Amino acid sequence: MADPGQHGGNVLETALKLGIDANSLTDFSANINPLGMPARLREALAAQLALAERYPDPLYRRLHQRLARHHGCPESWILAGNGATELIFDLACLLRQKTVLLLTPGFAEYRRALQWMECRIVDYPLAEQDDFRPDHRLLSALRPGIHALFLCTPNNPTGQLIEPDLLLAIARRCKEQNILLVIDEAFMDFIPDAVGMIPELGHWPNIFVLRSLTKFYAIPGLRLGYLVSGNSQGMQQLRSRRPPWTINAFAALAGEMVLDDREYQQRTRQWLREEQSYLQAGLQSLPEIKIWRPAANYIFLRCLRQGFDLQTALLDYRLLIRSCGNYPGLTADYYRLAVRGHEENRRLLDAMTRIFSHG
Ligand SMILES: Cc1ncc(COP(=O)(O)O)c(C=O)c1O
Repeated sequence: MADPGQHGGNVLETALKLGIDANSLTDFSANINPLGMPARLREALAAQLALAERYPDPLYRRLHQRLARHHGCPESWILAGNGATELIFDLACLLRQKTVLLLTPGFAEYRRALQWMECRIVDYPLAEQDDFRPDHRLLSALRPGIHALFLCTPNNPTGQLIEPDLLLAIARRCKEQNILLVIDEAFMDFIPDAVGMIPELGHWPNIFVLRSLTKFYAIPGLRLGYLVSGNSQGMQQLRSRRPPWTINAFAALAGEMVLDDREYQQRTRQWLREEQSYLQAGLQSLPEIKIWRPAANYIFLRCLRQGFDLQTALLDYRLLIRSCGNYPGLTADYYRLAVRGHEENRRLLDAMTRIFSHG
């Protein structure tokens, strides 16, 4: 199994390699809301440190109720976890030694979790000429012998959404073929007015939707994600296998609070609207860069200057972007960068302009 250090956000490792202070790096490699956690949450955490002195409710009833109310679904459809990552590993346990279709490039933890459970992985490569978007040809790959499909929308690292019609056609095909469909919507909250697949789940007991609160609410160190599905047997199996208390009391409190914070949600969407287009326009003006239209808070790009290591060049400016060279299906020419605050985005564009002006 590949090591777990292959993600963005590994500022410490980069700093150790370079022999510099980790605090001197600006991290564009992890896609976290730069507004920081909601102020109301920060205050509540500080005020309720005593929560650490008690065991959390092992059933996380309040948290599950709140998430169910948010999505207008029964509480039994929700299972919270210590980040969406923990739930990916839980799902993999349901799929032990089964055959699973993965789209490449895609989020690395599906593969790690499935390999751990000795699954057979069938890769479905997405092509650059299709802008790394799946189309109806994917349906013919959903054939007997495939037990599960993992999809991510918007996809990480490409930032591309799956068309709603195609998603429904995939869901239908999976249902006919008895294929379990996992739809990872970790970044869906960043997309204004997007509701994702959860409202449709009543028709699709073969679907499990993954959500994460760590990115939008800037709590990757606190950790919280959840799974939504009307598959009562599958959910029961997942629930019965879970070790108790894997969600710490502060993360559970966060989940009970943040969904009500309309002001934070609006500020986030406003920041993203402005900064996504600022960064996008700046990058588009660089002839050495090809970018793909982002759906969420990160931008996928290709450096067209042959053999050039853009990540290393930007480290001279203490800016860390995600190299996508270790994604199956990509090469070292591809990168992903997070949309950050205006000043940081400006610094990034300035640095890139300087780097490319050096011929
Ligand atoms: C597509 C995708 N799914 C799930 C996760 C895991 O998120 P969490 O922090 O909730 O474990 C990530 C994290 O980067 C991700 O990019």
